[in-house]
Order: sequence, then structure tokens, then C-alpha cells
Amino acid sequence: MKYHQAVHDVPVLFEACEKPQPGTMFDATVGGAIPKELVREDLRIPDLPERDVVKHFVNLSQMNFGVDNGLYPLGSCTMKYNPKLCDEVVSWPSIANIHPLQDPSTIQGALRLMYELERMLCEIGGVDAVTLQPAAGAHGEYTGVHIVRAYHESRGETRNEVILPDTAHGTNPASAAMVGYDVLEIPSKEGCVDIEALKAAISKDTAAFMLTNPNTLGLFEKDVREIAGVLHDAGALLYYDGANLNAIMGKTSPGKMDFDIVHFNLHKTFATPHGGGGPGAGPVGVNRRLEEFLPVPRIIKEGDRFALDYDRPKSIGKVRAHFGNFGVLARAYTYIKMQGGNGLTAASENAVLNSNYLRHHLSKDLELPYGQLRKHEFVLSGRPLKAKGLRTLDFAKRLLDYGFHAPTIYFPLIVEEAIMIEPTETESRDTLDTFVEVCRKILAEDPELLKSAPHNTAVRRLDEARAAREMIFSWRAYEKKAAKDQAGSV
Ligand SMILES: Cc1ncc(COP(=O)(O)O)c(C=O)c1O
Repeated sequence: MKYHQAVHDVPVLFEACEKPQPGTMFDATVGGAIPKELVREDLRIPDLPERDVVKHFVNLSQMNFGVDNGLYPLGSCTMKYNPKLCDEVVSWPSIANIHPLQDPSTIQGALRLMYELERMLCEIGGVDAVTLQPAAGAHGEYTGVHIVRAYHESRGETRNEVILPDTAHGTNPASAAMVGYDVLEIPSKEGCVDIEALKAAISKDTAAFMLTNPNTLGLFEKDVREIAGVLHDAGALLYYDGANLNAIMGKTSPGKMDFDIVHFNLHKTFATPHGGGGPGAGPVGVNRRLEEFLPVPRIIKEGDRFALDYDRPKSIGKVRAHFGNFGVLARAYTYIKMQGGNGLTAASENAVLNSNYLRHHLSKDLELPYGQLRKHEFVLSGRPLKAKGLRTLDFAKRLLDYGFHAPTIYFPLIVEEAIMIEPTETESRDTLDTFVEVCRKILAEDPELLKSAPHNTAVRRLDEARAAREMIFSWRAYEKKAAKDQAGSV
């Protein structure tokens, strides 16, 4: 299989406008049609012809990899191809050109879309009420944990602890801690919740247990209802991290598993590209006894009209401006309507089938801890690579040379040299077969090729930790840092 990423010399736009090339410039005032007082002279943005800006971004996009380029098996993140129809719908003027501050009487269609999306999510999640406000999965967790607190406070109880299994995604403890809870982690047993460890950890201080099912190893927690019983008997709540909902749609639901609070990652399961810091949506669903704590405003239906209800005295308040990321909500609405119930069930079935197909083939070449049937994702261990002086990281980097995005690596933390693969339902058998073939080829290659990979990408091996330690997100921040470095070196 041949792959080579494009390489362009792309200057930063600010640098490009230091030596501007003549091009077609449009009159920004549209022949004076824009009133003078609204025309600003000192905009701090690059001043370049449209042609150069388009070239800049197209060239950059060719040096990148995305869900439209090929397989992106990033476990836990659900990076899948999204139907373009969903993007088309959000570009319609009736969706794109409305404003959240319009009077509700003028945005009845948008309110209806959101009201119906809430109802559809209730059905998929097996919950009684949903808010669409949170902007991501982690934000949904934060909102859900606030609801946990409001619930206990309404009963005059001050519980200060949230429990999680050691397979939990990092956002779970972070969200609980941000709401002010102490976090207690319990070890898993054979990859699933150890009920005895859970029972030992529960006390009168336990506010909630956070769990995703299937968990991040791709294993279904079959004792989930017993877990719920243990929690409920202790007066605590069970929180569902919905990141893995795409494995179970139409088969079961968090509601059927007795979860009290659920978040949905619309940008993973329902057709919005996920990642890169783009907008997402993390609606939160609850059972009836928690409905009164949901954020305001609630969208209500009065006859055949829709209205906003702020009169919810026990609400945790607002968690995001306006109604959340409406474009993501409209994409999810389109996707769910397009798929229908049977289509969503088929999506989950295919996600699980694809995952087990790869698991079956790849576990012959790499180690498979907890060797059972998986749901939509599975976790291998790159331990056998150590004998050749290699690490999982080297294997992941070499995959890029063949035009595959690397899987998630080193998560979950309980698997040594973890390689977490989620092929998703959208990939064909041909693609999966090629992926297996490439993995096997890499494992037979000269180890030095892996250690120095990637070779065929626009950039070579990057310093993984530096981007997190030195956060430079804008050209201005870069300039400041460069000036500081220069001053320091004088
Ligand atoms: C299991 C799990 N929980 C929570 C999250 C957080 O979701 P988000 O990225 O939407 O904030 C993720 C993200 O990938 C996840 O995989």
C-alpha cells in the first residue's frame, strides 16, 4: 500500500502578508453600502487577497489527516465518516441564519427541532428528560455532577465523594473534582467493575458512581444492574458516561441499565466530526426524579407552539449560552431521522462487528488482555514489541506512513503499552483487511524503520509532550514567546 502526504511550504498568514502579492481585492465596504461608522481600519487580521487565503488553507488541509481521508481508529474517540447531508442541512438559511436572541415566536422551527431531538434522545437513552445545553461530553459530565449535588442537597444531605473505576476516562475524575467532589478510584477485576471493591468503597459520603458501559476496554459490564442496586441502596446515584453509546443503540439503553444520569456525545455517535477542538454537544438525560434540576430554559410545547420555560426554581441554572451548539444539534437531528430506529441499531451492530473482526485478526499478532468478545472497541497490548526494543508509540507512528491514523495509545492506563482500536461502523471490510495486512507488515519490518517513523508524512516525529507543556495557540502568543526567548538569550 502506497501513501505519501503532501508537503507544502505554508507560511503563517501574518508572515505571508509581509510580502503581499497583487491579486483581486474586493471592496470591503461594498461600494460604500456599509455605513462609515461600521467600517474599521485597524483590524488585526492578515490583509491578503482571497486567492492566497484559499491556497493557504487548502495546502494546510492536504498536510493533515481526517475522517474523510481514511481509517481513523482512535479508540474511545469514535472518529467516523459523517454523512455530508448533515452538513448540507445546517447550511440551510433557515438553520444557519437565525439568531438565538430572536423572539421565540420567530424561531418555532428551531425550537421544534430541539424539542423533538430531546424526545428522540430520551427514547435512545431510556431517560425521561434531556437538556441539550452542554457543549461536549466532558461538559455533560460537569452538568450531570452538578445535578448529583443539587439532588443530594435537596434532600438535606452533604455527600462529598464520587467513585470511579480505574478504566474511567480522565474527564470523569476531572469533572467530579471541578464540581468540588473528592474522587475515589477503585480497581477493576478482569477488566470490569469489582463489585466487592465497590461495596467496600461506598459509604454515607458517596454521592455517585460514574461508569461507561461498555467500558473503555470495550467490555460490557454485565453486572450493571447489581451495581445500580448497590448504589441506590446506599442513597447514591449512578452516572452514565455516554461516550460508548454507539455500541448499544437499539439493543439496550442506560435507562434500562438503571442509570440515573446520562450524557450523550452527539459529536461522536450522531454525525459531527469529533476532535480538533471543534464544537460538540453533550446533552444530559435524567430520570423523572431528577428532571427539576436540569438547566434552564426548558423547551416546552403548548398546543402546537413551542416556548421557553425559565420557571424552574430547583434548576442548577444555565450551563451554556443560549441553547448549546445548535449546528451540532441540527446535524444529530438529521442523522437520527435519516437512520431511523433500525438504522441506529444497525450502526451499533456494525460497529461491534467491525471491532470484533479486527480483534480476531490482530490478537494473533499482538497481545489481547482480557480475551473476551468486545463491543465497539478493543484494547491490545504492545508488550511483545519490547523484545525488539520497540514501544507501542513506534508502532503507532509507523501506521501513519501507510495512510492510517494511529489508534489511541497508552489508554486505558490499566493495560501496559495499550493500543486501543475503534474501527467504527462506517469502514468497509476491504479497509479493515488492508489495516490488518499493514499491521502485520509493520510487525515484520526492520525495528529501526519504526523507531524513526513517520517517514511519509508532512511532519516527522513530533515532541508529544511539548504541545501540552507550552501551549501556544495563536500567532500573537507565538510572537510573544519568540520575543521573550530572544530577550532571554541576549
Ligand atoms: C469514555 C469517554 N468519556 C468522556 C469523554 C469526553 O468527551 P468529550 O471529548 O466530548 O468532552 C471521552 C472523549 O473521547 C471518552 O472517550
